[in-house]
Amino acid sequence: MKNGNNELKERGDKVFIGTYARYPAAMIKGSGCRLFDADGREYLDFLAGIAVCSLGHCHPAVTKAICHQAGELVHASNLYYLEPQIRLAELLLANSFGERLFFANSGAEANEAAIKLARIHADKGRYQIISLSGSFHGRTLATVAATGQTKFHEGFEPIPEGFLHAPFGDLGALEEMIGESTCAILCEPLQGEGGVRLLDKAYLQGIRDLCDKHGLLLIFDEIQTGLGRTGSLFAYEQLGVTPDILTMAKALGNGLPIGAMMTYEKIAASFIPGTHASTFGGNPVASAAAVATLEVMLADGFLEDVQEKGAYFQAELQKLVDRFPALLSGVRGMGMIIGAVLTKDAIAYGAEIVNKMFDRGFLMNFAGNVVLRFVPPLIVTKEEIDQLITALAEVLSEY
Ligand SMILES: Cc1ncc(COP(=O)(O)O)c(C=O)c1O
Repeated sequence: MKNGNNELKERGDKVFIGTYARYPAAMIKGSGCRLFDADGREYLDFLAGIAVCSLGHCHPAVTKAICHQAGELVHASNLYYLEPQIRLAELLLANSFGERLFFANSGAEANEAAIKLARIHADKGRYQIISLSGSFHGRTLATVAATGQTKFHEGFEPIPEGFLHAPFGDLGALEEMIGESTCAILCEPLQGEGGVRLLDKAYLQGIRDLCDKHGLLLIFDEIQTGLGRTGSLFAYEQLGVTPDILTMAKALGNGLPIGAMMTYEKIAASFIPGTHASTFGGNPVASAAAVATLEVMLADGFLEDVQEKGAYFQAELQKLVDRFPALLSGVRGMGMIIGAVLTKDAIAYGAEIVNKMFDRGFLMNFAGNVVLRFVPPLIVTKEEIDQLITALAEVLSEY
């Protein structure tokens, strides 16, 4: 076979900078929850491009919107008004606390916009942002600095100034870190990369209260949890705490790169022409894809279905926890972002279990060095969940 997995791997390995440890498969087609590689092998995708293709691969409504928009206008610059972008902003704001929105191309860029807005909005001398240990906020230098995991800092020193990390779950320690130069607290309502770790309602409310007491902005990074992943459009809706600024990306365009940062009008007013920009942010084709994505997600019953299937998935994983107590210690998550927690002894097998599942044709990953993480397309069926559970049980029986 000329352009099979091996040939493409060999060609790829000759041309790319080695930032990724890739699996030995070249994906060439996707449909629903399935991916197909260059050797014709089929995979059931419980990773969805890392929480991106929430409507599944090549969802007909999204593909149609992309094709239509690509025939009308692909790019014109944010110096002009663009209808798909306006429609997308209207939809997002009508379905959230937000009053104003800025479009970017990725999660890291949405967070950069939030960081800049928090700083420019703050009184003079207030620039510091406190985030949490175990967090992940992106790979640009400022978002690396905001990320509360030292492994992402190593080798890139000096790390930009102005970021502190509070120990997870400790409100007292967080308050002690707040000083005269603090302007905001940044957190994910549920840490995705950090191992599907939920901030419970009381903790989040405590963070909100600290922000209010000290005059700080609360920024929620919903890049992974937003857009239906948790069973509501945004996770904050279920957690009862509303941020001042929220960032999103990943699933917004169901695979086309687009991110956004939204906030209240009063805060947004600190950005004026020239203070921030992005050449491609809210690109018409990406925006059209995102409008189509949101329209599907906001249709009657979609989010309820995510909650129902998420509960089913978690219950089925719990059965595996009961069956393999030496390997799994629990299940955690919200909606369809789910982690099966490995026991201390089994953490060493995490990557291997994921590889064995890959060999059986199931895509998932090992997150935060502690959980087997599942972020399938939200359209996954119970039958597909059952297939994954059966395969995972087989793999776990090998230990
Ligand atoms: C919570 C969170 N924030 C930010 C990012 C960075 O997003 P991107 O890779 O689109 O820059 C990610 C990506 O995994 C994420 O999960």
